[in-house]
Amino acid sequence: MSSSRILLIIGGGIAAYKSLELIRELGRRGIASRVILTKAGAEFVTPLSVSALSGEKAFTELFDLTDETEMGHIELSRSADLVVVCPATADLMAKAAAGLANDLASTTLLATDKPVLMVPAMNVRMWEHAATKRNVARLRADGVRVVEPDVGPMACGEFGPGRLPDVSAIVREIEAALAPPSKRLAGVHALVTAGPTREPLDPVRYISNHSSGKQGYGIAAALAAEGARVTLVSGPVALKPPEGVTFVSVETARDMLKACEDALPADVFVSVAAVADWRPVKASPKKLKLKGQGEAPTIQLTENPDILRTLSAKRKGRPRLVIGFAAETHDVEALAVEKRARKGCDWIVANDVSGDVMGGSENEIFLITPDGTEHWPRLAKDDVSRRLAARVADALTGPNPGLRLAAE
Ligand code: CTP
Repeated sequence: MSSSRILLIIGGGIAAYKSLELIRELGRRGIASRVILTKAGAEFVTPLSVSALSGEKAFTELFDLTDETEMGHIELSRSADLVVVCPATADLMAKAAAGLANDLASTTLLATDKPVLMVPAMNVRMWEHAATKRNVARLRADGVRVVEPDVGPMACGEFGPGRLPDVSAIVREIEAALAPPSKRLAGVHALVTAGPTREPLDPVRYISNHSSGKQGYGIAAALAAEGARVTLVSGPVALKPPEGVTFVSVETARDMLKACEDALPADVFVSVAAVADWRPVKASPKKLKLKGQGEAPTIQLTENPDILRTLSAKRKGRPRLVIGFAAETHDVEALAVEKRARKGCDWIVANDVSGDVMGGSENEIFLITPDGTEHWPRLAKDDVSRRLAARVADALTGPNPGLRLAAE
């Protein structure tokens, strides 16, 4: 039994009553809760019932002088191992995303140096509103774990995503967030490619794609958090490389292949980059000029090397586990199964890029392994990364690795 402590911020909403059950369930598991009730939260559950269950006084007002003397809001924000916002309302998330600090809950969220987990619950239209989507993406980009709400009938009579997940599911999320990284990949070298490649036409123009690099950078960070030594080979993106990884910046597919070959040997290769399939046969050393009205140049293309296939096919020095990605817009699972065979890799992580996946913060995955297909629910890209890193650790270090190499 652990002896962790969370700081639970209860927002206003019909789902707030479930936070009482959450406090009780966490207590049973040795996780103590110190509670902040927002003004709206206190309309749904009383400070008295909260303190009866948590065994501590519930905090309600920012400028309560007694509280500030006993424990200032800065100290309060750091007095736990994890800050949990449950239910996280659209309003609380908007404030946190914007960095506002005008009450105890928002001030605490801005002042904390601890990880933050948000469990949203709201009306389906509010959850699906562009503003909420923007705020959730912003929070996730800032490192906040935002749990996906459940789908189902709502208190307001509508149906859809927005329901607070079951208390048992919330407890699981909290325990996962409290668990120290296992470092199961200590001693493992992981090679990851990410981002797009750029194939020059002339000194100012190039062929590329919309890849943001988020998923690849997330996977590199998650593998590093599991203790792996990570080499991240990346095309041009607007992201900061994760702490502690060896970073190699490249432009073209051929540069990327060379950087990967140079980084071998590796135990695992995760090919997340959206490598341009073709490049112009010749990149003009001078800027191409307009020739005359209506006359456009013809660009002749040639195929780029396939990095995933090249590394998968190595007889000597092939990484023990080779994972490809498949970006598809239709028949995702069937095409990914076919792609796994064609590329000669061990696993394929397939996603549907017909929506807002490229550049977005979430991903819905099919994991194709020699044992079959797993369908993961729609998850934040960071959660996809953590889950994949855990699967890599299972495969490389678990008691029953269950890894059949494609080369066998
Ligand atoms: N890949 C690669 N080198 C290439 C092209 C793709 O390493 N020249 C890798 C990607 O990193 C990814 C996988 O191959 O892991 C599949 O990429 P995807 O673009 O989905 O497939 P393609 O091979 O381009 O096939 P298609 O476009 O026909 O689906």
